[in-house]
Amino acid sequence: MHSDSSLTVGLGDRAYDIIVGRDLLARADNLAAAQLTDRHVIIITDSQVAGYHLDSLASACSRVARRCDTLTITAGEASKSMSVLSVLLEDILALGVDRGVVLVALGGGVVGDLAGFAAASLLRGVDFIQVPTSLLAQVDSSVGGKTGVNAAAGKNLIGAFHQPRLVLADTAVLDTLPDRELRAGYAEVAKYGLLGDAEFFEWLEAHGADVLTREPQALKDAIMTSCAAKARIVEADEREAGTRALLNLGHTFGHALEATAGYDGSLLHGEAVAAGMGLAFDLAQHLDLCTGQDAVRAKAHLDASGLPFSLASAPVCHTSVCGTSSDALIQLMQRDKKVRDGQMRFVLPRGIGDSFVCDDVPIAALHHVLEESRQ
Ligand code: GLY
Repeated sequence: MHSDSSLTVGLGDRAYDIIVGRDLLARADNLAAAQLTDRHVIIITDSQVAGYHLDSLASACSRVARRCDTLTITAGEASKSMSVLSVLLEDILALGVDRGVVLVALGGGVVGDLAGFAAASLLRGVDFIQVPTSLLAQVDSSVGGKTGVNAAAGKNLIGAFHQPRLVLADTAVLDTLPDRELRAGYAEVAKYGLLGDAEFFEWLEAHGADVLTREPQALKDAIMTSCAAKARIVEADEREAGTRALLNLGHTFGHALEATAGYDGSLLHGEAVAAGMGLAFDLAQHLDLCTGQDAVRAKAHLDASGLPFSLASAPVCHTSVCGTSSDALIQLMQRDKKVRDGQMRFVLPRGIGDSFVCDDVPIAALHHVLEESRQ
């Protein structure tokens, strides 16, 4: 017996459901019947995910689709590029598509962002479905319609808002996810508690270990609560004119750390965000915006979850991150796409579950916090 849970992202004529449950891939013909039946379906996946999950999803889609094709890209962040996008779009067009085509993104954040951007630009916009296979993609990148690729000047600088028609978050696919990637995805789960939901954070303090050992109910509850939080924020501010920026808690620091580490897998996005959230609490405490007690509590949970919470605890501390001066890190933050009119933007906590966007952080305070975080 299946007990799937679902919620709707309420965006008017672009509203869509997120379904969370076990073994959804093999049931996609039923769950996504409205989006797939009698359509030309193209599943886009990567070389790693294909081996585990493509057959099951392709069989289900083939039962209802008019035609089902699959395209596989090379696994890894390097595929989130204009050159891979260009080849992908030509490969899709070579299949003889029309505007009735539906793309299905089966994979983690790279596949979702790339296939989503392909859907946004192909024939000026076609339907797509997200089937995220990493925890990070299930709780964050597959929801909310941010799609795109990286540019030489920085990550995610070329893209479009294009909402999926459905998100299928199958918790069974997480069984094959390496522990380190599960933990990195958990950083984004903890982020929802830290930025806006103290009760959820308290729940995570009690049940986070169950989520990380993949206890099915805890995992599903954590994904549902995270997706519901993201859905509420996206409904209020789809194109990030205001509150959606709160989802960037830890990201201004995190993006600088990722750039320093070089996107080579030595520092995962979620790990960089975790360290960035620790730094955001340090900064808020230093500026007397939040209590030391809350900062200690936030960082203790990240630590207990096996995540970094400072520069010193980042996996690449002894190489790239700690070898980079605070001035150089600040320069990287000044290049972040969240910079407006030359002002860096930080999401800072007033406490656990209460954050806001701050545009006037003094450089000296940043410098102090970065130096302290190396100890
Ligand atoms: N991952 C941040 C956002 O979707 O806005």
